[in-house]
Amino acid sequence: MEGTGGRPRQGTGRPSARALKQRLESLAAAGVLEVPRAGRARKAAAAAPLEAPARSAAAANDPAARQRLLDVIRGEVAVCRRCENLACARQNTVFGAGPADARLCFFGEAPGADEDASGMPFVGRAGQLLTKIIEACTLSREQVYILNVLKCRPPENRAPLPAEVANCREYFERQLQAIAPEFICCLGTTAAQSLLQTDEPIGKLRGRWFTHGTAQVICTYHPSYLLRNPGAKRHVWDDMKLLMSRMGIDA
Ligand code: URA
Repeated sequence: MEGTGGRPRQGTGRPSARALKQRLESLAAAGVLEVPRAGRARKAAAAAPLEAPARSAAAANDPAARQRLLDVIRGEVAVCRRCENLACARQNTVFGAGPADARLCFFGEAPGADEDASGMPFVGRAGQLLTKIIEACTLSREQVYILNVLKCRPPENRAPLPAEVANCREYFERQLQAIAPEFICCLGTTAAQSLLQTDEPIGKLRGRWFTHGTAQVICTYHPSYLLRNPGAKRHVWDDMKLLMSRMGIDA
């Protein structure tokens, strides 16, 4: 599923009436009962990239508030039909897993067959390798949050289409806002290009630091790529050493 080549940028579409209704219901569930009119909302969004509930959860450093926000988004994802062909074929949506106040998020591409069957991210062969990578960093899976760009499995494990990434962008961006991690590690081309909105290949993106909101971002190769190209593991280890050093973790 994971290559190393570049992909075109995704477009952005106007939300449908159904998506807006769903969004207002979610905001209400998260305690937001008033929203500014469109013009003011656009100005506010430009000035303040975090949604109000995510901002207050982050400011209060309140893990329970973050978890409530994640639960709201998880509920929306569970009934999402923006990509009808993916929704028709899925057994489960795969929202993400980990503590709502994780310092570090691993950001992957999309569920595969094992993840679709279980509803959990990175539980197949690539997931086992990711667990080893996390443990090599002297961390555990329970300490990090793991999510994907897409929440539904693409057929035959093909790479996500730009329109699918565009449909899921709102979910993963809000998910990351709710968690407000200090660090994000993008696994592979799709994750890196989608988060950073670039066409640069993963070979050029890896081993460098970027920012996304308040998070420091590092990119590395996807574990599926490592299963096919074990020689690239040394580059991933170099990237993990950079990550550990910035996180203040002794190797
Ligand atoms: N590959 C991914 O990118 N994500 C998963 O959850 C599993 C495999």
